[in-house]
Amino acid sequence: MTYLTVYTDDATPETLLRTSDSAEIATTLKEIGVRLRHWDTIEGLSGAAQDEILTAYRDQVAAVIAEEGYTFVDVAQLHPDDTPDWPDRAADARAKFLAEHTHDDDEVRFFVAGSGIFYLHVNGRVHAVLCEPGDLLSVPKLTTHWFDMGTHPDFTAIRFFHDDDGWVGNFTGDPIATRIPDYDTIAADRGQE
Ligand SMILES: [Fe+2]
Repeated sequence: MTYLTVYTDDATPETLLRTSDSAEIATTLKEIGVRLRHWDTIEGLSGAAQDEILTAYRDQVAAVIAEEGYTFVDVAQLHPDDTPDWPDRAADARAKFLAEHTHDDDEVRFFVAGSGIFYLHVNGRVHAVLCEPGDLLSVPKLTTHWFDMGTHPDFTAIRFFHDDDGWVGNFTGDPIATRIPDYDTIAADRGQE
């Protein structure tokens, strides 16, 4: 289930809210211009080929494209495997967007399988949204944010873009991400609720 934690962004962040109530999460995110919607999930697509995933969700994807004008859709996924270089690949993938950044395009992701946390740093607060299968999160362009897939990445997500090059990360240099609990910590917190 989707799980939201809100922190202050000061030197010693305080937790302001913890909730897995989907209506409360959607309302809280709406206040910062971020949209969270839910689609019914289709099972058995973790690790499936991109075409199979996009075909399974074709009606939902087409509706989002028609509404919001995206021109490019793909599938990003990462799953643990037994190869010796998996730990390094997992760490590299995790590190890529683990520091605060913005994009010149919206960041829109639908979680087909697995999970990850988007941290949205807006108005002096950090909103950590743990996304799970069925969540479609729309982060508007130029929103300061980062993403943590945890130390054991495992997710399959559909991505929507307005163009091919809007999704470069513009890093802010703010070390805020190092002060806020990471994916592993929040996922453990949630598990104890
Ligand atoms: Fe990003």
